[in-house]
Amino acid sequence: MWLDPVIKEIIPSTNSYLKENCLFHGSVVIAKRQTHGRGRRGNSWLSDVEGNIYMSVAYVPNLPCEKIPLLSLAVGLAVHSTLEGFGIECGLKWPNDVIANGKKICGIMSELVDGICVTGIGINLKKLPENCGLSYATSAEELGFSLNKNDVIEKLLQNIEYEITHTDDIIERYSRHCLTLGKEVLINNTDKATALEISKNGSLVVDLNGERIAVNCGDVSIRGTYGYI
Ligand code: BTN
Repeated sequence: MWLDPVIKEIIPSTNSYLKENCLFHGSVVIAKRQTHGRGRRGNSWLSDVEGNIYMSVAYVPNLPCEKIPLLSLAVGLAVHSTLEGFGIECGLKWPNDVIANGKKICGIMSELVDGICVTGIGINLKKLPENCGLSYATSAEELGFSLNKNDVIEKLLQNIEYEITHTDDIIERYSRHCLTLGKEVLINNTDKATALEISKNGSLVVDLNGERIAVNCGDVSIRGTYGYI
């Protein structure tokens, strides 16, 4: 389903580029570096390390509106199986941080624009710069893996295609690898809750003071009570 990737030396952000230049089903944009890499909830994404993956894909969602958040979980699963396929053991922190050795190795951000899903994926393959202040982050290289970026991208695109078109049992498969479930979490740095399950629409169901509530990925930040996960 993917069109030939557009490859850029340096652009502000692959998500922004896709939105502004090639918002078609199947578009893929890959940048060697980004000047304004964006993360979820207004955060920035470290993007000046050459050799890391900075990629965005666009696709028309094949799900009803209320289930579209599942696609973001699906891309998380695709990164998970890709990295595991290259030997890196990892898990998923809801909604879709990929965690290896207790630290974040990949971030995913999805936006819906004119009915098209734009999903940006940042994967740290190379060592993080010293003093970058990202104590919660890691990379393939830091874990002792020297991966060929093009091989990872090729496998990742195959896995994304599979995952976004096979969402029937996604909750079960996602939950199997989700590190958040069963944990005490802090919602927006304040409310302590216990993560119970993933709802059929991809929300995180938590026990908050004895009450079951579902939190949506756009609305909250989730942190472990004792650390990032
Ligand atoms: C997050 O964890 O907050 C999501 C980070 C997403 C980063 C990727 S890198 C490629 C794409 N372009 C961007 O500007 N952001 C995403």
